[in-house]
Amino acid sequence: MTRIGHSDLDVFPLSLGGNVFGWTADRDASFAVLDAFVDGGGDFIDTADVYSAWVPGNPGGVSERIIGEWLASRKPEGVVVATKVSQHPEFTGLSASNVRKAAEASLGRLGVDTIDLYYAHYDDESVPLEETVGAFAQLVADGLVRHVAVSNYTAERIREWVEIARRTGVDLPVAVQPHYNLVHRNDVEQTIIPVAEEFGLSLVPYYSLASGFLTGKYRSVDVGGQTSPRASGAAKYATEAGLRIIDTLEEIGDAHGASIAATSLAWLRAQPTVAAPIASARTVEQVPDLLAGGRLELASDEVDALNRVSEWTPAKA
Ligand SMILES: NC(=O)c1ccc[n+]([C@@H]2O[C@H](COP(=O)([O-])OP(=O)(O)OC[C@H]3O[C@@H](n4cnc5c(N)ncnc54)[C@H](OP(=O)(O)O)[C@@H]3O)[C@@H](O)[C@H]2O)c1
Repeated sequence: MTRIGHSDLDVFPLSLGGNVFGWTADRDASFAVLDAFVDGGGDFIDTADVYSAWVPGNPGGVSERIIGEWLASRKPEGVVVATKVSQHPEFTGLSASNVRKAAEASLGRLGVDTIDLYYAHYDDESVPLEETVGAFAQLVADGLVRHVAVSNYTAERIREWVEIARRTGVDLPVAVQPHYNLVHRNDVEQTIIPVAEEFGLSLVPYYSLASGFLTGKYRSVDVGGQTSPRASGAAKYATEAGLRIIDTLEEIGDAHGASIAATSLAWLRAQPTVAAPIASARTVEQVPDLLAGGRLELASDEVDALNRVSEWTPAKA
């Protein structure tokens, strides 16, 4: 189990991504994935109010609704649900009134009284940050949200959020959700991890499997017969350098009897401040690799080997 920042949230160190629910996994498949995840020891689910409004005919809120129906049907003990605000077509942005209305809509779809972890999904610089921080604080004060978090914020804006929260005497964010994995390291390691370390925030990275590339199933940048809507986003990493990372993951994973996917998730968990990588599964068959990624412990020389093969060059100051 792992603690999220300074919160009281103690979770299995792998979060199940919810953007597949109602998109590449229908309701039944989503229920089966959620069952398999929780039966296997998982208890931390990530979604957003917008999922998956990018699909034609999908209004958004579909993932939250499926999770809500699953929670009502299964009544699982101790499951922690994180969701996000700012991108839903009807509730765009982070003004105080929008944050309130979006949170109430999410609570309704999830069928819960309190959101465990509530993220500002993307920064909204059109609204004074004081207003957004105040809106999140009000949700906590009113019992609609337990803990506050941010996603896709720059280090400077995270710092600003923390400073405002301290000045106004409200709860600090407990987590940051950035795009971070073995093929997307430098920005996070250079800017986000230092600020997370400074303020005791946990990283909950997304695209932990690089949309599937870090499972080893894409061996060419040519997506050819691949039908997954994730294929082009994943296969673009199958360059010579990317495939060297896959080979190293395979070699290290073999020594543990672990898959490439599980090994890449274990590498993420070994990085400073990372509490729980997020990865999604479209099918029940994909779930065991995710759970294994939450349990596998790599030796320091294995982490070093993966660091070297995925090395990045610091930007000049
Ligand atoms: N904060 C943000 O802005 C943001 C942005 C994006 C995502 N997220 C969150 O992060 C979560 C994860 O993102 P993601 O799903 O886009 O990327 P991901 O976790 O990197 O990739 C997941 C995909 O990899 C494939 N996969 C998973 N397990 C596999 C296995 N064992 N073997 C083979 N393939 C496997 C599946 O794709 P196929 O269907 O192609 O098999 C699955 O949908 C989302 O659900 C969401 O909760 C947050």
